[in-house]
Amino acid sequence: MKAQLEKVKAEALEAIAKAESAQDLENVRVSYLGKKSPLTAVLKNMGSLTPEERPVMGALGNSVREAITNALEEAKKEIGKKELAKKLEKETIDVTLPAKKCSCGKLHPLTSIQREMEEIFLGMGFSIAEGPEVETDYYNFTALNTPEFHPARDVQDTFYITDKVLLRSQTSTTQVHAMEENKPPIRVISPGRVYRSDAVDATHSPMFHQCEGLVIDKGITMSDLKGTLLLFAKQMFGEKTEIRFRPHHFPFTEPSCEVDVSCFVCGGSGCSVCKGEGWIEILGAGMVHPNVLRMSGIDPEVYSGFAFGMGIERIVMTKFGISDMRLLYENDVRFLSQF
Ligand code: DAH
Repeated sequence: MKAQLEKVKAEALEAIAKAESAQDLENVRVSYLGKKSPLTAVLKNMGSLTPEERPVMGALGNSVREAITNALEEAKKEIGKKELAKKLEKETIDVTLPAKKCSCGKLHPLTSIQREMEEIFLGMGFSIAEGPEVETDYYNFTALNTPEFHPARDVQDTFYITDKVLLRSQTSTTQVHAMEENKPPIRVISPGRVYRSDAVDATHSPMFHQCEGLVIDKGITMSDLKGTLLLFAKQMFGEKTEIRFRPHHFPFTEPSCEVDVSCFVCGGSGCSVCKGEGWIEILGAGMVHPNVLRMSGIDPEVYSGFAFGMGIERIVMTKFGISDMRLLYENDVRFLSQF
């Protein structure tokens, strides 16, 4: 019996040494340690031994089982390593393949110009305020000296949600919020989206962006407005830029004006960017109307102020020479990556 056990052990170890895969090892395990294995058969015969022989043979049987189990474990580890090495060799990276392109995003021109504006005005001591895009007609019109039935309401074809609630058609609404929420001195700009029921074409969109400005303090005059806008224009369009004020009408300012900058491409002599004019219109402005101050709780006898509002698309298009506004909203990377 002892000889039989030794033979089983020797055969098993040889089979393990020959095994080449995890499956081979599993087959060895089943045939040498399984229920139908010679080892099990030998151990089943223990009954025929004398009581003295039994523990000796039992111990030998166990040691054979242990030796086979250990050898299987060892071989399993070795084969695992070999299989991994083979797999790594097969799956090596082919460094000659062209690399996957990783594209890098950048700010949309509307965002970058808006941030540039913010930086310029922050540098002059303004702070930045935000206002809601859904407004009541009070903030969009009434408080801006445009009562119901005033013809100026029709000029800005507005999206109404109810009779009294609408999408703001101008960022001038933020003037009213700023005056209601703060005591003078007030110095804020407020960039954001505005909406008008306009059909889409090269220069119109039902949604666009404006940036409002408001300054209220004692003794503010039109010359403060001029100085502020001149400084802005020089920083936005270049040191040589000049500005020009043309009389205009807005219900919420008196006097009111439109402001042009000298063409930064031709310097004023006339070119395709300024359409031969030498000047480019960039914003509307004026001295805040006493009615507007009064409605928002500011005494026009004590305080005065100026306001201005500009279209951000217009500035972007002028600065980058873009002739069709729709390009700004199409999100075509080939277009956007140029700026
Ligand atoms: N809200 C005007 C518009 O959308 C622009 C404007 C004009 C704003 C004069 C002002 C201003 O603050 O003083 O056309």
